[in-house]
Amino acid sequence: MKAPINMVDPAGEYRALKAEIDEAVARVFSSGRYILGPEGEALEKELAAYSGAKHAIGVNSGTDALHLALVAAGIGAGDEVIVPAFTFFASAEAVSYTGAKPVFVDIDLATFNVDPKSFEKAITPKTKAVIAVHLFGRCASLPEKKNILLIEDCAQSLGAEQEGRRCGSWGAFGCFSFYPTKNLGAVGDAGLITTNDDGYAETLRMLRHHGSRKTYLHERVGWNSRLDELQAAVLRVKLGHLERFNAARQRVADSYRRELKGTKIVLPAEPAGGKHAWHQFTIRSERRDAIREALAAQGIASSIFYPMPLHKQPAYAAANAGVSLAASEEAARTVLSLPIHPLLDDAGVARIAGIVKGAA
Ligand SMILES: Cc1ncc(COP(=O)(O)O)c(C=O)c1O
Repeated sequence: MKAPINMVDPAGEYRALKAEIDEAVARVFSSGRYILGPEGEALEKELAAYSGAKHAIGVNSGTDALHLALVAAGIGAGDEVIVPAFTFFASAEAVSYTGAKPVFVDIDLATFNVDPKSFEKAITPKTKAVIAVHLFGRCASLPEKKNILLIEDCAQSLGAEQEGRRCGSWGAFGCFSFYPTKNLGAVGDAGLITTNDDGYAETLRMLRHHGSRKTYLHERVGWNSRLDELQAAVLRVKLGHLERFNAARQRVADSYRRELKGTKIVLPAEPAGGKHAWHQFTIRSERRDAIREALAAQGIASSIFYPMPLHKQPAYAAANAGVSLAASEEAARTVLSLPIHPLLDDAGVARIAGIVKGAA
């Protein structure tokens, strides 16, 4: 049997950047500063510059990024926050942490992002914010609404652009995850929030550090959600290669598109007037399970992101009894994400596509 192909290759990324990463890790170890130090500060500056936002605040995870953004915005019990039903659970979980209610809306099957019509219909006087998830690396586009904060969930979309602007630069907050399999992956949990608002930035710095701006003076109850120096140093190295790695993802996506053209497979739509970060290459097919089995038989991984929409999840089902979101349910039934990462070559893509075509 030919070599197996995984969904991602974080160890391969390390091997490709070993000298630089080892140097960065040694620098942190010998510095004696492990939390809130120069590496984190430098990463925040570099990511603010990269995304085009005024401020960037490192936190412990993408989930914390969403949670602390909501808290900084003053969202809590009695408020509603609109969330797509087809996303990773954390997009809604962060809302629940605050006591606010996640109100699930449907997606557009062509983009896998929030359907603007479903968004408009869900707005009530209690709606305080919408979490626009740039799912799979494609920017979500929503109409601006007075008094409704736009929170960009950029966990999957670092480097994606819309009308010449990088994600995380136009919402009230951009919330990033550096979970190891993301386009910019740490060697543990890590996240970051971008914002253009000086007040939010200051509040977020307090919230991530026990509500404190001055040592042992706690102005409010906060959290311990700091990005450590080791993660920051590794992320800084990888950030220097992100554009190259995202371009490699684009090449893999182009190859899949060429190889799978003219089949019954529904391919992900190209963004109009933007740049996709291709965190996932997600196809749709009635024969999704057969394709997945055929790939597995040849040692090729594939993933179902996501098999159950959030309004049907046990944690939210009771509160959403009777809610029907047809496109999200259809997506959960038919999606399949194929391997895509910067180190996947044309021969690998051709092999995967051949099996997909044979089973479709
Ligand atoms: C869309 C989305 N939102 C939020 C998160 C949460 O990020 P983290 O795992 O860093 O907490 C993830 C990733 O896992 C995600 O894919």
